[in-house]
Amino acid sequence: MTQASNGPTVPPTEEELSRARLRLAVEGPVARITISRPERRNAMTGRTWTTLAHIGQTLPEDVRIVVISGEGDTFSAGIDLGMFSPEGVDGERSMVAGLADGTSTDAEVQDYIAGLQEGFLWLRRPDLVTVAAVRGHAIGAGFQLALSCDIRVLADDAQLCMKEPALGLVPDLTGTKPLVDIVGVNRAVEICLTARRVGAREAERLGLAELVVAPDELSGAVDDAVAALLATDREAATATKALLQQAAGNTLQQQAEAERGAQAGRLAALARGAAGH
Ligand code: ACO
Repeated sequence: MTQASNGPTVPPTEEELSRARLRLAVEGPVARITISRPERRNAMTGRTWTTLAHIGQTLPEDVRIVVISGEGDTFSAGIDLGMFSPEGVDGERSMVAGLADGTSTDAEVQDYIAGLQEGFLWLRRPDLVTVAAVRGHAIGAGFQLALSCDIRVLADDAQLCMKEPALGLVPDLTGTKPLVDIVGVNRAVEICLTARRVGAREAERLGLAELVVAPDELSGAVDDAVAALLATDREAATATKALLQQAAGNTLQQQAEAERGAQAGRLAALARGAAGH
């Protein structure tokens, strides 16, 4: 999930971003990604996610914070439903390409989905803190994109919905693990298998939102969070995120060992800094 050695080295062009319905603005340590297709409620296609992966692979090294939002008053209505038609969207590969006549194998479909998942996986990189700023609907893939971020700041009009099971699908864009990690398997089953909308206040109670604010306060609240995150030492932040990410899978002893290892590295760095080299 760190910068791929054999991946692209040049960021997507403006044309590629626009075809993927994305905007990207990098200012020093902060990258802002906006899903930009308000006339379709920011519905996304496969190209949106492969381009997101491309953005992740080519972020400038000094970027520490990534903020993802949707243009207008919706985060995202999820996958463009045209992706399930045989012809796809704008000539882009359809999700069901070759499945009806058996020309696509199961392995090919899984490879294709793996490529789409790359658009979501990099948001967990320990050297980044990723923030989803959510207004209005975050449905299906939109909810999974928000779940891929470290921090979710919601406007009080936000509605989260895991729609996939209602459409005969499973959530496959890396959202099931964070959902279960946050709300537990029982609540996750209830949310996914009813495909109901979870409002902002409930999301906050369930731990799905770190902060809920009025819609007109959303961008200010995100800016405040970004400023607070930037005030922390970068190396310490990276090491701490890595520690926190492994805590759930570790025993107490393993986690204590991981803390010692990380701290020894930090203390050595601080001592070198104090000694001026
Ligand atoms: N794919 C393609 N087009 C979409 C999508 C979508 N996911 N969502 C909205 N649109 C289009 C609508 O067709 C409509 O187009 P039109 O103006 O040509 O008629 C336009 O965006 C506006 O949509 P409305 O439904 O009119 O907007 P409204 O604000 O009333 O509702 C909402 C928004 C709730 C998001 C609704 O559009 C909706 O339920 N969309 C489908 C959500 C969905 O099922 N997503 C897939 C989930 S599964 C997954 O992501 C893997």
